[in-house]
Amino acid sequence: MTLQTIDVPDSIKQLPLSQPALRLIDEANERIEAFMLSDQRVIENFVTCDFHLVDQALHWIQENHLLAGNRFCEWGSGFGVAAMLAAVREMESAGIEIEPPLVEQSCRLADRLHIDAGFYCGSFVPRDLADVWDLGAGIEHVETDEGDVYEEIGWGPEDFDLFFAFPWPGEHTFFEAVFEASAADGSLLLTYRGREGMNLVRKI
Ligand SMILES: C[S@@+](CC[C@H](N)C(=O)[O-])C[C@H]1O[C@@H](n2cnc3c(N)ncnc32)[C@H](O)[C@@H]1O
Repeated sequence: MTLQTIDVPDSIKQLPLSQPALRLIDEANERIEAFMLSDQRVIENFVTCDFHLVDQALHWIQENHLLAGNRFCEWGSGFGVAAMLAAVREMESAGIEIEPPLVEQSCRLADRLHIDAGFYCGSFVPRDLADVWDLGAGIEHVETDEGDVYEEIGWGPEDFDLFFAFPWPGEHTFFEAVFEASAADGSLLLTYRGREGMNLVRKI
């Protein structure tokens, strides 16, 4: 198995966002700010990606017919915005997040905006991936000691067509290793890399 890089052009930044996507992003940003300012315990691993760029990347992937199917999964979904943007784009969408308060916030936001995405509390790392646990040894921002949630979702990693994640700097290789070891041939992994923008690979 190997991962094939698909170049995502900078020109995706010119792609327009739909009204429902813009409304979702505005509402999410307000709620995230309020959540961060509230008395909650600080969730150190939670930072948000560029939601506009996620929607533009999804637009470009769909427009170029790169998907083998219609199922989307956000690994470490935080407030669940990428999973909801995929649902707005009519994908069957799920978010997996380890922190219960973030799962609760995602469910509330999806309910409020009537967006059909499912959110699951637990780990995106399949519990039977022995080699990947070794790779995770130096990883600081991914919880590697919790059970996965694929049984609850009813779909395994091999059933999704597109994964999205925002890894912390230096940790994207861990996400790629989990993807390579567990996803189906032909599926895609989109990662947000901060200033470097979006990175897209296909498992072949
Ligand atoms: C950098 S944040 C990204 C949040 C969201 N995807 C975004 O782009 O706005 C990473 C998230 O992964 C979560 N996380 C860490 N380890 C996880 C695991 N094993 N399974 C699921 N979520 C995890 C953290 O709690 C955090 O919310």
